[in-house]
Amino acid sequence: MFKNIHLLYFTLLLIFFILVPTQSAPESAVITEIPGFSGTFPSKHYSGYVTIDEVHGKKLYYYFVESERNPSKDPVVLWLNGGPGCSSFDGFVYEHGPFNFEAGKPRGSLPTLHLNPYSWSKVSNILYLDSPAGVGLSYSGNKSDYITGDLKTASDSHTFLLKWFELYPEFLSNPFYIAGESYAGIYVPTLAYEVAKGIDAGTKPILKLKGYMVGNGVADDVIDGNALVPFVHGMGLISNELFEEVNADCQGNYYHPVSDNCENKLATVEKEIKDLNIYDILEPCYHDTQSKITLGNEKLPLSFRKLGETERPLRVRKRMFGRAWPLRAPVREGLVPTWPQLLSSESVPCIDDEVATSWLNDEAVRKAIHAENGNVIGNWELCTDKIRFYHDAGSMIKYHKNLTSRGYRALIYSGDHDMCVPFTGSEAWTKSVGYKTVDEWRPWHVKDQVAGYLQGYENDLIFLTIKGAGHTVPEYKPHEALEFYTRWLEGQKI
Ligand SMILES: *[C@@H]1O[C@H](CO)[C@@H](O)[C@H](O)[C@H]1NC(C)=O
Ligand SMILES: *[C@@H]1O[C@H](CO)[C@@H](O)[C@H](O)[C@H]1NC(C)=O
Repeated sequence: MFKNIHLLYFTLLLIFFILVPTQSAPESAVITEIPGFSGTFPSKHYSGYVTIDEVHGKKLYYYFVESERNPSKDPVVLWLNGGPGCSSFDGFVYEHGPFNFEAGKPRGSLPTLHLNPYSWSKVSNILYLDSPAGVGLSYSGNKSDYITGDLKTASDSHTFLLKWFELYPEFLSNPFYIAGESYAGIYVPTLAYEVAKGIDAGTKPILKLKGYMVGNGVADDVIDGNALVPFVHGMGLISNELFEEVNADCQGNYYHPVSDNCENKLATVEKEIKDLNIYDILEPCYHDTQSKITLGNEKLPLSFRKLGETERPLRVRKRMFGRAWPLRAPVREGLVPTWPQLLSSESVPCIDDEVATSWLNDEAVRKAIHAENGNVIGNWELCTDKIRFYHDAGSMIKYHKNLTSRGYRALIYSGDHDMCVPFTGSEAWTKSVGYKTVDEWRPWHVKDQVAGYLQGYENDLIFLTIKGAGHTVPEYKPHEALEFYTRWLEGQKI
């Protein structure tokens, strides 16, 4: 058949490169079916563990959703939830994952999964990671690993990424982004910095980091700590008089109260807002497991409570988990108490994690998504108190300066009705980086409606608000979130 030996050689070579281009995604990681979902997967899903410390048996769990558009060209985005101690299944189940979860009946039974029309996998490959070990489905054989902090978490996640890309080398050429929310305002820049250093040092494999994204993220103790009072005043939650008094007594310094008068005024502020859902001041607060809903503030007229409603397949949670950043529990240098530690109880204000909890603690689900079962790693919890976590990286502003000045793009977005990490702090610290404004404060639109506001700075640093969204933006505004996400990743004007 082959008359020419060179042609034969060439053909064999061609076949070799077609069949064995590089090693590709591990077949054992493919998810073929998933309890609660009866449809066809719109793209490939993979999941499993990556061992980042063989001696300790430290294993980080990931769930990878391929893009439903063009997996070989679309960016790979790493997603991290915060806490510290919260699982990235928060993002997967409640925010921008491929499914919307409908609560099972009777309560606590397996939820029904529907396809999420606003999944971020519509336009990107997205990698959900439970980090650090001890959080979500990640664990270690040596419990000493559960004492950790910002810097160790960043270097562990970097190790994870290098090993993950070795398992999935076909994604090494895609643009790579790091994204997260809340306390991931610390995880994202510290990890991006590690990755950037690795790239500079020629650490293999070379990741194609392009930039990062932070939503309602913690950044700077002082600036974020001072952001609450102006926010609650601007939102009409405290009176002008109280605002003037607290301002006079604290001199704008709410983070380090300077006097007893200031302390007392801050206590009054706290009293005024304590019944609100801190993750979205317009949403009701979930009070107990009997699903009894009491409205955050009965005095608000119904029309006001309904403000900002948007199209979405399922309603948002009545309560949620995150980080009560400014509310008397600011993140400071040193030990950061997890939510359960902070309250010394299981009950966390305004949180409903029932759907995720019942799904992820089902043994058939665990098996389907290649997670260890409950006998080995215990119950999945949205946010755990298993870890002792130290904030040891200081202010994030130096990280943002370093990364953006070296050409990494940054999008800092805020749901503007979040009281946990209010936009007033993110707006102030992005300005404080000191860059020239290149896109003056202006509205941005979705379907001819104002979806929020943005201010663009040089070096591709953008601060963006999402009007009417709470702490977990894609949960409240899935359509708007997918819009800005898509435009930003594609480098279009938002
Ligand atoms: C866990 O790791 C620590 C630190 O490396 C080590 O000192 C300790 O012996 C280990 N414990 C076990 C049970 O292996
Ligand atoms: C950013 O950090 C790296 C690593 O520490 C350092 O080498 C570099 O000079 C810094 N760049 C800027 C612009 O600050």
